[in-house]
Amino acid sequence: MTRLGILISGRGSNFQAIHQAIERGELAAEIACVISNVPDAAGLGYAQTYGLPAHALDSKGIKRADFDTRLIGILHDAKVDLVCLAGYMRLLSPHFIQAFAGRILNIHPSLLPAFPGLDAQSQAFAARVKTTGCTVHFVDEGLDTGPVIAQAQVPVLPADTVESLSARILQQEHLLYPRALAMAIAALPKS
Ligand code: GAR
Repeated sequence: MTRLGILISGRGSNFQAIHQAIERGELAAEIACVISNVPDAAGLGYAQTYGLPAHALDSKGIKRADFDTRLIGILHDAKVDLVCLAGYMRLLSPHFIQAFAGRILNIHPSLLPAFPGLDAQSQAFAARVKTTGCTVHFVDEGLDTGPVIAQAQVPVLPADTVESLSARILQQEHLLYPRALAMAIAALPKS
């Protein structure tokens, strides 16, 4: 069974979608640990409810490299095979990326390479594009770069606000992340 380490910073709805796909038997994986860099992240409450091993590790005031060394320690102790960024809103240091090279996935609310960085939904809305969406990709040392695993398109409707558009993108994220994760798991070398 592929062991997942999930990193969150907030709501954790993508983490929940991954967990629910596992519970439904759609994903041959187990959640080995959930780590939030924000101590009061709502996603930690969900982890607690379902008895998933969870860690609150406050990143405030800690140097990125030092914080990431602690993250690596927890993820190694939990023997994770893949790291899933699920609304983890902190850049990872090069040594973290090297420690899990080719084994870190991220979900981003745009059709990358369009609209990387923060507030991707607002960026798409302001650019008046007709179609946006979401992307699951492997993480490299760039900002929202790295090989794309899967994408889903979402039309921007005439009556949309940033909020309504973001909500429809999020619905697609919840379908896309488990599907992309299944593809990444299938491509892992057999141990
Ligand atoms: C999601 O929309 C995710 O795509 C985005 O943060 C939200 C987290 O929601 N991530 C990024 O923008 C990363 N650059 P969640 O905590 O409910 O999963």
